[in-house]
Amino acid sequence: MKNYTSVHDIDNINSWIKEARTLKESPLSHMGLGTNKTIGLLFFNSSLRTRLSTQKAALNLGMNPIVMNVSGDAWGIEFEDGSVMNGGTAEHIKEAAAVVSQYCDIIAVRAFPSLTDKAKDESEYVLNAFIKHASVPIVNMESATGHPLQALTDAITISEYSKVAKPKVVLTWAPHVKALPHAVANSFTQAMQKMDVEFVITHPEGYELNPDITGNTPIVYDQKEAFANADFIYTKNWSSYKDYGKILNNDLDWMVTAEKMALTNSAKFMHCLPVRRNVVVADAVLDSENAIVIPQANNRTFAAQLVLKKILENL
Ligand code: CP
Repeated sequence: MKNYTSVHDIDNINSWIKEARTLKESPLSHMGLGTNKTIGLLFFNSSLRTRLSTQKAALNLGMNPIVMNVSGDAWGIEFEDGSVMNGGTAEHIKEAAAVVSQYCDIIAVRAFPSLTDKAKDESEYVLNAFIKHASVPIVNMESATGHPLQALTDAITISEYSKVAKPKVVLTWAPHVKALPHAVANSFTQAMQKMDVEFVITHPEGYELNPDITGNTPIVYDQKEAFANADFIYTKNWSSYKDYGKILNNDLDWMVTAEKMALTNSAKFMHCLPVRRNVVVADAVLDSENAIVIPQANNRTFAAQLVLKKILENL
């Protein structure tokens, strides 16, 4: 594997899950693989889990991670080809990506969408510019439309906690105070479509995700109906896709509560974090034994470690 930019880079999700769980049992068993190799982690946006778990994964493989908050600390990067750079940007991606490629054997990038320019966001211009102008493999640490490291983590976590052969997994929208990207929901949907699960999405009308991504996945507009007999409740807010980037409905009725969880098959509660308590999910759910958000976040390390291992084996 050269790059990991999308869930579509996972050729066989069951074998990836198996390999990640083996890595988790013995995280330092491939320490030699990354010796004298450097990974550069470039953040255009904030992070806690992705930043630390990807560094941890690299360290577990014997790599040297170097990290930069690009938006705050680097020169402003220009992404337009042929632009006259007499504005706020000081360095073109052509030079920036080529230079970083000389310092790093793998480059990982986080760059969120604007949520104002749908076409530009969907072009994935930041991620694709790194793929085009860097000479080393690229890893997506959450881009405008996808968060494939999170989705791999979620698939691993569902496999670990599943008590039935084909669990019912519900992706539910929940309210939030800010307009949020679609990346986590998109990649989670793509991962569940690859797994042997009964997958359902529930959200208020108007919050339909990109239909090219949801495809034939059932969408249920009644949250309580969707929760019936669920084995996993995966909660996430996203802004409208159709009325791009807008908050249409901040109805607290969509918050995940203990009463709604009681409709499920004693479902595990999942969220990628960070999560706003008593807006997205009630304390009683997040503090319950069925909440698995902390072990879920732990699996971020092993998802990243598997991806880096596959890239290192191919260098
Ligand atoms: N889930 C996730 O990507 O967390 P961070 O934004 O903290 O990295």
